[in-house]
This record gives sequence, C-alpha cells and structure tokens, in this order.
Amino acid sequence: MNTLISQSAAWAALKTHQQYLATVHLRDLFALDNQRFERFSVETCGLLLDYSKNRLTQETLTLLQQLAQAAQLSEWIRQLFQGDPINNTEERAALHIALRNRSNLPIRVAGQDVMPQVNAVLAKMHQFSDSIREGEWRGYTGKPIKSIVNIGIGGSDLGPAMVTRALKAYHHPRLRAYFVSNVDGTHLGETLAELDPETTLFIVSSKTFTTQETLLNANSARTWLINQLGNDKAVAKHFVAVSTAQQKVTEFGIDPTNMFEFWDWVGGRYSLWSAIGLPIVIMIGMDNFAALLAGAHDLDNHFATAPWERNLPVLMGLIEIWYSSFFGATSQAVLPYDYTLELFPAYLQQLAMESLGKRVTRSGNTVNYPTAPIIWGTLGNNGQHAFYQLLHQGTHLIPTDFIIAIESQYNELGHQNAVLSNVLAQSHALMKGRNAEETRLALNQIGIAAEKVNQQLPHRVFPGNQPSNLLVYHQLTPKILGTLIAAYEHKVFVESVCWGINPFDQWGVELGKQVANLLLPELTQEQSSYGYDGSTDSLLNYIKTHRLA
Ligand code: F6P
Repeated sequence: MNTLISQSAAWAALKTHQQYLATVHLRDLFALDNQRFERFSVETCGLLLDYSKNRLTQETLTLLQQLAQAAQLSEWIRQLFQGDPINNTEERAALHIALRNRSNLPIRVAGQDVMPQVNAVLAKMHQFSDSIREGEWRGYTGKPIKSIVNIGIGGSDLGPAMVTRALKAYHHPRLRAYFVSNVDGTHLGETLAELDPETTLFIVSSKTFTTQETLLNANSARTWLINQLGNDKAVAKHFVAVSTAQQKVTEFGIDPTNMFEFWDWVGGRYSLWSAIGLPIVIMIGMDNFAALLAGAHDLDNHFATAPWERNLPVLMGLIEIWYSSFFGATSQAVLPYDYTLELFPAYLQQLAMESLGKRVTRSGNTVNYPTAPIIWGTLGNNGQHAFYQLLHQGTHLIPTDFIIAIESQYNELGHQNAVLSNVLAQSHALMKGRNAEETRLALNQIGIAAEKVNQQLPHRVFPGNQPSNLLVYHQLTPKILGTLIAAYEHKVFVESVCWGINPFDQWGVELGKQVANLLLPELTQEQSSYGYDGSTDSLLNYIKTHRLA
C-alpha cells in the first residue's frame, strides 16, 4: 500500500470519535453499562482478556476493526501463515508459527515444506537434552553436566532466559541454568566464578554467529575451559552451538554434529520456539517444551480463525493503536502479578520495540502518526511501592497490561489473596480514581480538620481514567506461557499491519554496531584526534588517560 493508513476514512472516523471519548470518564462508562465486563472480555486457550477498563465503546471497536480492514489485516494474516516473504526488506518469510505447528500440516517456504526440518531439529534437541538430563552426556573428565550456560544476546538470550526463569518449578533438580549476554567482562567473570568446568556445558547461541558480544564471551569461555581442563579436546564435550551459520560455527571450533540448526525465516526475537530454546528443553524436558509449543499453536489457530471481535491478539493490538495513534500515549506498562514472569517485561521490550520501532512504512514512506509506544514494566507488586505514584497522579496517559495468575507456584504459603487483592485494587483505582467529593468525604472520615481539608484536597484527589487490560490465567504452566507469548507476538503483528510497517527487520540497530567496530581499535591506538565529534573524541582521550593499562 503506497498511501498512509492515516489517509483512510477509517482513520478520520477514529479521530472524530476520539474527540468525543476524550471527554468521557471510564467510571461513567461503567455507570452507564453494567454489562461492560461481559461485553468487553474474551477467553481463549486458558487466557482471559478483560479489556472493559479501556476508554472505548462498541463504536470504538467497530471503527478500529474498520481500520484493520482498511489495512487488509486478514490478507496479511493469511500471508504470515502461508510462509510468504512478508519480511520485505530482507526478502524472507517470518515463520515462527511453523516452529510450533503441532498439527504438522505442511507449511511451505518457496514451495518447500519446512516441517520435516523443524521436526528433525526438535528430535535432535530431544535426544541431546535427554542425554544431559539423564547424565549420559559426560564432560571431558567423565562427570555428568550440572550447569548450562547460554551465551547469546537479544533474541538469542531474552526469550530462553525469560522462559527458563518462568518455568523454574519444572527444572531438572540436578541442573542450573545461567545466561551470559553482556560484553562487560563482569557478566562472564561472575558467572564463571560459580562454575565447575568439569560439569559445565556452554551453549553458544547466535543466529548470525557474527555478534560481537556473543563471540567475545564464547571465546573467553572457551579459553577459561581449556585452561581449567588443560586440553583443547575438552571443547567438544563442553560446547555446543545454536545457529543458522554452520560455516562460522565450524570456524569457531565447534563440531557441526554439536550444532543445532535454525533458519533465516526465524527472526531473532521470535526464535525461542526454535533450537534457540535448547536451554529451555534441557532444563524442563522435551514434554514440557512440547507443551509450550502446543500453547502457542493453540493461540496461532485462534488468531488465524477467530472473528476479530473475539480475537484476543487482534483486540490487544487494536487497543494499543487506539491509545498510541489517537490518544498520543507514548508508553505502555506491562505489570505481571506473577513472580515467575519477572523477565517478561524485558522480553516484551525487544519483541515490541525492535519490531515496531519504525518510522517508515513497508514502501518507505515516512509515517505522519505515532507508532509503537515505549514498553516498560516490572513485577507489579514491587512497582506499586516505586513508580505507581506516577500512574495514579502523574500527567501521563499510561495504558497498562496487568498479568495475573490465579494460583501461584507456591500456593501453600497462602500469599495469593494478597497478590490478587493488590492487582484488582490497582486496576480499579486507576480506572475510577477518587473525585473531589469522595476525597472530601474520606478526609472528613479520618478526622482531618475542616480548615485543612481544602488545602489537602488537590493533593489527595485521584483523576483515574487510566486504562488497563487484565490478562488472567489459572497458573503459569508451560502451555499457558506459550499461549501468552504467542498472544503478544500476534498483537505486535496486528499493530505492524495497521501502521503499515515491517515488524521483522531491525536496521536501526546496525549503525551503532558499525560505529562500535570503528571505535574499538581507537581505544588501543596512540592518537589524540579521531574525527568523530567534540564529545566522543574528548571522551576517548579522557578514558585513555584514566585507565590503568
Ligand atoms: O542487535 C540486535 C540483534 O540483531 C537482534 O535482533 C538479535 O536477536 C540479536 O542482535 C542477536 O543476534 P544473533 O542471534 O545473530 O547473535
């Protein structure tokens, strides 16, 4: 599409509609309609989305669906699922759905069914993970593996780290998982200090096998291992790789039989379902990994077939577009009330912001509307005592996703009612607020002297009208986690289609990488002028004069 979506009739209608809804308070929408929850909630694959606390009406949803129609969402979903090269700037398909295609029906890329290769790699992961878990795979000195260290960054770290953390209750009791991503030697150094080389397996995860941070960490880990075990033959027993680049893996010194393959049609931030999930499989076992895939596959089927008014990721995507492009919301908070999801906001940052952080459409036209919001968040209960003040009384409109487990992994401790009361209270209070009249009454009730009430009033009023989604599931199992992740993946896809942008490339990260490669040798050369800019040149000199060696 060469024209911008903002030129469509659907866009204009939403703009007009927003002017009306901007004047309506959420508490009034609830007062007018006691069926709001029934009307504005959807349940699928064990996941409930309550979106009734959003600044929308039935008319808003109709108009947003017209926008999706104008953007040809159905056609794009069809192309995604049938393996068309929808990543247009890299001329590739984006087929993460094939990695979890439990129906095993053929999915073709350039005419070739990819399912046999997907299944072959899953079988190899199964066999290898079993041999680690059962203690059959031995280290160089004959001991079973106890520590798994994933070395990777971005999509080769965030997804497997988040899932492995979330599914700790399913870990093999002998095994511990570590994730090293940062090039600061402290990350690897602190990790190595905890490890026994005889019982450690390193998984070098890199789609391209060219990423500076990963290769540097992997090289240092290999040097450490050889020094500790006294023989470079030890590498074969303690290093495996996950990559699309067999040649580079071989050059690094890892036997291709110890390499787990994936393909260029798997995007880095969509890769946890592929061999990049190897640390997950080792830690939780293949049956549980298959359940993770099954949960995502169920959601894929829902996304591909459910009518939009009952389609969970479509609704989530359209609601975010409503706030970003029409209300001008610049951020979106993700606040899990499930301790196992502590890494979920960080994972979503890459998924959403690397996918949607674009300013031109697929055809290269500059957009004239705000696109992706900044995603941020942390565990909700901790956030309450840190930044929720800004949500309640600050000046920003911040739509929020609250993620709620009805049962925790450790229910016997009896804390769960406290968790649930907190999250329900927060979403209620953010929605309803407390007006001047209610505040005056509350101050009177706690005995504030009449003359002080007027002075206190403005500080104690809560404007409310802060929207939120509530995503609720019973307990975090591998299956529900797969469903939850796939819901967010498809939400991002819906947004990309409506905004007309390609969510599967990430050219924006290239420039910084190129300049870093130029700068690296400058740090060791004797030079005082470099030609970057006044600040960078001076900092290079400052650093050189202040370093120890
Ligand atoms: O720098 C961004 C990025 O390209 C991500 O998209 C990717 O997930 C990450 O780097 C790691 O890349 P690789 O798996 O090739 O090492």
